[in-house]
Amino acid sequence: MKTYAIVGLGHRAQMYLGALLGAHRGDGVLVGLCDSNPGRLAYAAAVAREGGVAPACYGAEDFDVMLAATRPDRVIVTVPDYLHAPYIVRAMQAGCDVITEKPLTVDPAGAAAILAAQRASGRSLIVGFNYRYSPVRTLFKQVLMSGIIGHVRNATFEWLLDTNHGADYFRRWHRGKAHSGGLFVHKATHHFDLLNWWLGTVPQRVTALGRRVFYRPEMGDALGLQDRGVRCTGCPAFARCGFRLDVAGSAHLTALYAEAEGHDGYWRDACVFSAEIDIEDSMNALIEYANGVVANYALTAYNPCEGYRVVFDGTRGRAELRNVERRAVNPDGSLILPVPPEEDVIVVQPQFGRQYVLKLPEATGLHGGGDAVMLARLFGPASNDEYGHVADERAGAWSAMVGMAANASLLSGAAVELAGLVGDVPQPDYAPGPFGPDAVWQVFDASRYPFLQGATVL
Ligand SMILES: NC(=O)c1ccc[n+]([C@@H]2O[C@H](COP(=O)([O-])OP(=O)(O)OC[C@H]3O[C@@H](n4cnc5c(N)ncnc54)[C@H](O)[C@@H]3O)[C@@H](O)[C@H]2O)c1
Repeated sequence: MKTYAIVGLGHRAQMYLGALLGAHRGDGVLVGLCDSNPGRLAYAAAVAREGGVAPACYGAEDFDVMLAATRPDRVIVTVPDYLHAPYIVRAMQAGCDVITEKPLTVDPAGAAAILAAQRASGRSLIVGFNYRYSPVRTLFKQVLMSGIIGHVRNATFEWLLDTNHGADYFRRWHRGKAHSGGLFVHKATHHFDLLNWWLGTVPQRVTALGRRVFYRPEMGDALGLQDRGVRCTGCPAFARCGFRLDVAGSAHLTALYAEAEGHDGYWRDACVFSAEIDIEDSMNALIEYANGVVANYALTAYNPCEGYRVVFDGTRGRAELRNVERRAVNPDGSLILPVPPEEDVIVVQPQFGRQYVLKLPEATGLHGGGDAVMLARLFGPASNDEYGHVADERAGAWSAMVGMAANASLLSGAAVELAGLVGDVPQPDYAPGPFGPDAVWQVFDASRYPFLQGATVL
């Protein structure tokens, strides 16, 4: 059984903690916990004790001491994005394998350091691209791998974040570009990774536009919130603000953040209309791929609803995936409870054929059901990874590099080449499938494609 240590014990770490104490307690043993905040360290230690485990606890200054004393097989990195690189590098130098949260890192120097440390140590690095693992997105990958729509030539990918989820990136460390790389890196790394993985290739050139059009002081004023404070806690405009976060109303947020803020001054609920925010909330990118595909990508973070739409236009047809994660949020900014299940539709249309609306697999849990499948893959017994779900440092770098190039394009106004941004990054194993340049084109025959079984034909 593998031994694990976790560094960074905030929101995301709870998922890994829960897995090692719950569904995967027979697959791994938690031996060490590390965080710069003694409050969150104590909270995680208490959760572990309740789960019957007593890992050794260390402050950030004793991370290396933790590695030497507890000798974990794997280190799980769940610190803020700008701190991934130093922790990943130190863990691999100490001989540990690493599971890191996305994005791999926020800048080219961090990516180069991680790739060099991986090469020198030979350790394994897995990036937690949970979106890949969802059953519906995996089915979409199957569609593309089958070659049913021929060679993909164009892609359109639109992602909407609603005012509950999207606003959250403007409350804390994500809102500083130096800490998160902005949403082009922090959030879009998921989407750029999906594009790379679905297309089975790597990007070459990026041209981007980005603005902050909504989370601005002027918008707070326009919404009648002129008397707002610097954070939701104690804000005079709290009751009137649809963007408030009620930390006191959540026992979890109170324990994880409010009760720990005396140690480091980390506010979970800074005002989303602060002048100091320097990331974009509205972004567009044109991405050119090595295999000739051009993708048109858009992300907005202030929508009334949440979801996405991705379309691939191929030489033999078209495939579209539409998702509604949430249709609306409450006027006070909270989620409508109980949260309804996500709605997905996949439409595949072969050239000169009818539209097939696919029968979809069951998916439960967060991120389209991706979290649970990813945890089973990370912690459970090894099995054949036929769709190439597991992402390593190369996939982490290629996806983060799109965001880094987009950020560079925002500054220069020009297209940015990915080659040379980080050095030589080999192409990842994206499992492009049996369909390749030499695939035999044949007359469309629905019986050749198992995913069309049970489809509705329009
Ligand atoms: N894949 C996903 O769907 C998903 C979802 C949420 C977050 N994430 C990722 O997880 C990571 C953590 O995000 P979060 O929302 O949990 O943030 P968070 O702020 O809730 O937690 C970060 C933790 O790191 C600790 N920390 C800060 N500086 C540190 C240091 N120098 N040394 C040790 N610990 C330090 C903080 O005290 C805090 O406990 C990020 O990289 C984020 O991108 C991924």
